[in-house]
Amino acid sequence: MKALVVGSGGREHTLAWSLLRSPKITEVVCVPGNGGTASLPHCRNLAMNANDFEGIARFALVNNLELVVVGPEQPLAEGITDYLQGQGLKVFGPCQAGAQIEASKAWAKALMVEAGIPTARAAVFEDEAAALAYLEQQGAPIVVKADGLAAGKGVTVAHTLEEATQAVTEAFSGKFGAAGNQVVIEEFMTGQEASVLAVTDGQTIRPLVPAQDHKAIGEGDTGPNTGGMGAYAPTPVLSAALMERVQQQVLEPAIATLRRRGIDYRGVLYAGLMITPAGEPKVVEFNCRFGDPETQAVLPLLETPLDEVILACIEGRLESLDLQWQAGAAACVVVAAEGYPDKFPKGMAIEGLDDAAATGALVFHSGTRRKGDSVVADGGRVLGVTGLGDTFEGAIANAYTAIDKICFEGMYYRRDIGYRVKGLS
Ligand code: AMP
Ligand code: GLY
Repeated sequence: MKALVVGSGGREHTLAWSLLRSPKITEVVCVPGNGGTASLPHCRNLAMNANDFEGIARFALVNNLELVVVGPEQPLAEGITDYLQGQGLKVFGPCQAGAQIEASKAWAKALMVEAGIPTARAAVFEDEAAALAYLEQQGAPIVVKADGLAAGKGVTVAHTLEEATQAVTEAFSGKFGAAGNQVVIEEFMTGQEASVLAVTDGQTIRPLVPAQDHKAIGEGDTGPNTGGMGAYAPTPVLSAALMERVQQQVLEPAIATLRRRGIDYRGVLYAGLMITPAGEPKVVEFNCRFGDPETQAVLPLLETPLDEVILACIEGRLESLDLQWQAGAAACVVVAAEGYPDKFPKGMAIEGLDDAAATGALVFHSGTRRKGDSVVADGGRVLGVTGLGDTFEGAIANAYTAIDKICFEGMYYRRDIGYRVKGLS
C-alpha cells in the first residue's frame, strides 16, 4: 500500500518513517514534506499546499495512494477529511465537526462540561467589557485564551491582572483574527503537564504511551513558550492507575459525548493534561492530531505497525487490536534556530546528519529543506533528535551524543530535556 502524509514538520517526518517500517507500506509521499522526508528511502515530497484538497485528492487517486494521514490541525479544521473521504480515499484524522475540539476552545470546554470531564472552570465571552468585568471579579493568576486556532500563540497565562487585561484587549482588537472573536477565561491550574495521545475509531479509544514535552524555550522550563523543545515517553508521571483514570474520566466520556452529538470521530484525540498536586488528571486542552514533538518520542516505541493501527481506526476495528510497545524509553531533543520562538534566520547549511544517525539516534527533521546535495535550516524548530535506551538516562544520552555531531550556525537546544525523569525508568 502507498500512503500520503500531509504536513511538513517533525511529526510528519516521524509519521512517514513510522509508516515505512511496516512491511505493507511500499511508498510514502509527503505534502509538502521537508528535507528529512526528501531524504528518507521510499519517501518523496510533493510541492503542493496542504490546503489544496482538490490537488491532493487528484494526486492521490492518480498515483494509487490509498491512505492519507493528516498531520496538522489546520487542514483538519478546514475539512480535509470530509473532502478526501468524499473522493473515496481512506483518511486518518477527524472530520471537520470533530476537529472543533481543537479549533474552538469554547466548543471544547462545552463538550467537557457536558461529558463531565475534569477541567479548569471557565467562562466564554464575546464582549470585551463583560470579559474585563469577569477578570476584575476573578483576579490573577488567570488564563486567557483566544477561542480559535492561533498557531500556539493564543494562550496567556497571566500572573497579574494587568497581563490578563492586556490579553483580553489584544484578542478583541483582532490580534488573532477571527480566532479572537470569542475569549475563554479560565482558572489557573498548577501541576505537571503531560500529553496523552489516543487513537480512536469513534467507539473504542486507546491511549498511546504517555509523554511529556518541554514547552518553554529556556532550561529549567523558563522563558517564552514554544511549539515544544523536547519530549519523552513513557512518562512515569502517568502511572498505570492514573492512565486508567484518564481512560475512564477523559477519553471515553469525550468519545461518547462526540458520538452523542452525531460526530463519528476517527483519528487521534490528544489530551493535554495537568496532573494537579492532588494527583488528579485535568484537561488543559484537546488536540485533534498527533503532538509535535511528542510523536517523535512516542512512535519509535510502537511495535505494532502504524498502518495497522490507522486502518483499524478508519475501518472501526480498533477493539480487536492490541497495541504492542517496545520496552525502554525514548527522548526527543529539539534543535532550533537562534532567535526562535521570535525571529530566526533560515538557510544555514546543516552538517553532521549522517554521523548523528550513525550513533543509533533517529534524526527527524522539523524545519529543513534539501538544497542540492545538502540540507539547510528552514524553520524555527529545525531538527528533533530522538534517542532510545533501556532507561531515560540512556535515551537522553543517546540523543545528546547524536546532537554533538550536528552543526549549523546559531543552533540552539536545551541541555536539560527529561530532567524530571532522569534516574527514573
Ligand atoms: P493550550 O493551548 O490550551 O494547551 O495552552 C497552552 C499552554 O498554556 C498549556 O500547555 C499550559 O502550559 C498553559 N495553560 C493553558 N491553560 C492553562 C490553565 N488553565 N492553567 C495553567 N496553565 C494553562
Ligand atoms: N507539543 C504540543 C503540541 O503538539 O501541541
